[in-house]
Amino acid sequence: MFDSKGLVRELQGMRDDGHLSDALLRRAVRKIAASDKRVSWTGVYLLNQEGNELWLHNYVGTPTEHAKIPVGQGVCGTAIAEKKNQNVPDVRKFDNYLTCNPDVQSELVVLIRPGDVIFGEIDLDSEEPKAFKDDAEAEVQAVADKLAEQLMAERR
Ligand code: SME
Repeated sequence: MFDSKGLVRELQGMRDDGHLSDALLRRAVRKIAASDKRVSWTGVYLLNQEGNELWLHNYVGTPTEHAKIPVGQGVCGTAIAEKKNQNVPDVRKFDNYLTCNPDVQSELVVLIRPGDVIFGEIDLDSEEPKAFKDDAEAEVQAVADKLAEQLMAERR
């Protein structure tokens, strides 16, 4: 889907230069969004301090009404509740799916998780069905893992 190695290298370079997670999260979203025309929306959600809601950090795509998502709701909230990535080939068949854009057909959510701590997730939408193969999930996971390293380093 895209060159995660190149992006991971770039994110590490930003870390080495002293950039903080905010800059890395924005860079990652922009780069993933531009990587594949099948991706219609890319965003990062971070868990709030109470750990009961996802808050939208930044995104590329059409504005969404789901800037805050309770844990357990939608594809995004389910990933947190189940502590598991969600690769949904047909969103219409997903219980409690939260619609952003009626043209979206498939969705991939990859957790930003260093070990047992979950910081949030990368969320990708596509207007094509079954857009995300296992290799796409692995590429996005490599980026999420690098973001997780930085978020962990900033944790107080
Ligand atoms: N579809 C998501 C909501 C977020 S939007 O796709 C931007 C969900 O069901 O959780």
